[in-house]
Amino acid sequence: MSSSLSPKVAISGSEQCDIKFLAELAEKIGSTIILPQDFSNALASKTFGYLLYLDNDRLELRACQGKKTNAVIVDFLSGKSRHRRLYGGGKGQNLSKAIGLKKIANPIVLDATAGLGADAFVLASLGCDVTLLERNPIVFNLLNNGLERVLKSEDDEVKEICSRMKLHNQSAFDYLTQLSTQLSLDATVLPDVIYLDPMFPERKKSAKVKKEMSFFHDIVGDDSDSDKLVELALQCASKRIVVKRPRLAETLSNHKPQFSITGKSTRYDIYHPVTSHNPQARLKSITCSG
Ligand SMILES: C[S@@+](CC[C@H](N)C(=O)[O-])C[C@H]1O[C@@H](n2cnc3c(N)ncnc32)[C@H](O)[C@@H]1O
Repeated sequence: MSSSLSPKVAISGSEQCDIKFLAELAEKIGSTIILPQDFSNALASKTFGYLLYLDNDRLELRACQGKKTNAVIVDFLSGKSRHRRLYGGGKGQNLSKAIGLKKIANPIVLDATAGLGADAFVLASLGCDVTLLERNPIVFNLLNNGLERVLKSEDDEVKEICSRMKLHNQSAFDYLTQLSTQLSLDATVLPDVIYLDPMFPERKKSAKVKKEMSFFHDIVGDDSDSDKLVELALQCASKRIVVKRPRLAETLSNHKPQFSITGKSTRYDIYHPVTSHNPQARLKSITCSG
């Protein structure tokens, strides 16, 4: 797991950007701020590996050393998101089948590992109400900025989709533990589905797109606590738990999935919730077993 920050990330922005926002961001993530007028010198000095850059109102993560790669940004209005929304296969795509959209109408989904929100956006565009949890503050801010730019846009269709996405900068462990406390009083607080897509182990690939993933991996690290997260999630959904894995990877947790849906490079493992009359006691047994 790595929710802690890499000290190699600096923060800067264009002349027109909101400097107050930059300063708050630098404080939140514990990074150095480089004022626009000092930017060229700082870049040349190569004292940081990554830059969170506010280009007017668009937040980008840039790699500053090594070979040139595209910046990481969240863009729900155009590019890949738009293409997948319009031509991605709707409810016929594997993600939708894994969530069970043909069986569960407009489910409440907890995306406990939100990342850059691509999967959550697909689910929201298919009618799900999605709560998104992201613990890494850099990733959270990239995603939050993508959602904010949608709100400021004139695209009513995408705005309507994003109104079904509620993002929190929170660890899923804390969130699910809180949820289970409420659960002892009220079983209706459970989401229908919990969706988990922890970081895959890094693989060596040469394609440019893979290099982008690899620098994202550098920022987030390995989600090495994901086994524990699955165990906890199994107690906290009312209908199913879906775990996204590389096609040939081992399953997470000691439980066998009910079934899997396998695509070209990805596999979705689908679990039924573990049921018991005393969810509080079940949770304790899991958190105590380390
Ligand atoms: C592979 S990315 C998810 C990609 C996402 N499905 C998408 O479509 O963009 C995994 C993300 O989960 C986050 N994460 C992992 N474990 C978490 C936890 N326990 N609580 C909150 N976020 C977590 C990581 O910080 C990382 O950003």
